[in-house]
Amino acid sequence: MPVNLQTLCQEVCALGKEVGAFIKQERAVFSTERVEIKGKHDFVSYVDKTSEQKLVSGLSALLPESGFIAEEGTSTKKGEQYNWIIDPLDGTTNFIHGVPCFSISIALMRKDELVMGMIYEINADECFYAWENSKAYLNGQEISVSKAPTLADSLIATGFPYYDYNRLDEYMEVFKDFMRNTHGLRRLGSAATDLAYVACGRFEGFYEYSLQPWDVAAGAFIVQQAGGKVTDFKGENNFIFGKEIVAGNAACFNEFLQTIQRHFK
Ligand code: IPD
Ligand code: CA
Ligand code: CA
Repeated sequence: MPVNLQTLCQEVCALGKEVGAFIKQERAVFSTERVEIKGKHDFVSYVDKTSEQKLVSGLSALLPESGFIAEEGTSTKKGEQYNWIIDPLDGTTNFIHGVPCFSISIALMRKDELVMGMIYEINADECFYAWENSKAYLNGQEISVSKAPTLADSLIATGFPYYDYNRLDEYMEVFKDFMRNTHGLRRLGSAATDLAYVACGRFEGFYEYSLQPWDVAAGAFIVQQAGGKVTDFKGENNFIFGKEIVAGNAACFNEFLQTIQRHFK
């Protein structure tokens, strides 16, 4: 039977909200002794892991033949056609410090193509989603990227490098350029939320390097369905697995990308 992506997307939103409620409940009783260190400045806890287990089991029930690319490695099953790309808690550093900005991010790939994205920002109870050939939505309302025509009218989001400092000098040059020539820069601490905010027009653009597929897959798809553009730093399509992403509204995307390219040679 063909997969009905619209129905599946509604089910994924319901699952995201259910697991989001678990994360919220654990945040209320969380203590920093429960934090484990995965790598330099890279943290995890039972909350990320349990959230991922709940998502993998829920998504497997929704689409039994599907496989997974999941941050905490709960399942490494490969689906012949369909694979979910999951970040069970994007914004873990915010979560452990009690800063209220963290999300669940779920994307679905059919072969090599993204066909669904869902981001649930738990604290604001905001669910962003889209499926193949659909518009993009936030809690049932259609959303679209902003129409701001130039960088001078833009608010830009980014993520600061926190373990890969090889390109820090170029990064800082881009940062200074945007500091001088835009309304300002924001660092929310959740790449999925940054992308969701581009999709609904709160930010004109987002860029970061060294991100993983689970940080960006759902958000990139939702931005595209909301009328925005997404590329890597070369202006090409390798933004899911290529560890570089630029996403923005259509109107000032070229100016945005060119500014990044001027410094990242
Ligand atoms: C992180 C967040 C953050 C970004 C990092 C990611 P995590 O994901 O998206 O905004 O700057 O690069 O690793 O570890 O909280 O899932
Ligand atoms: Ca992440
Ligand atoms: Ca995560």
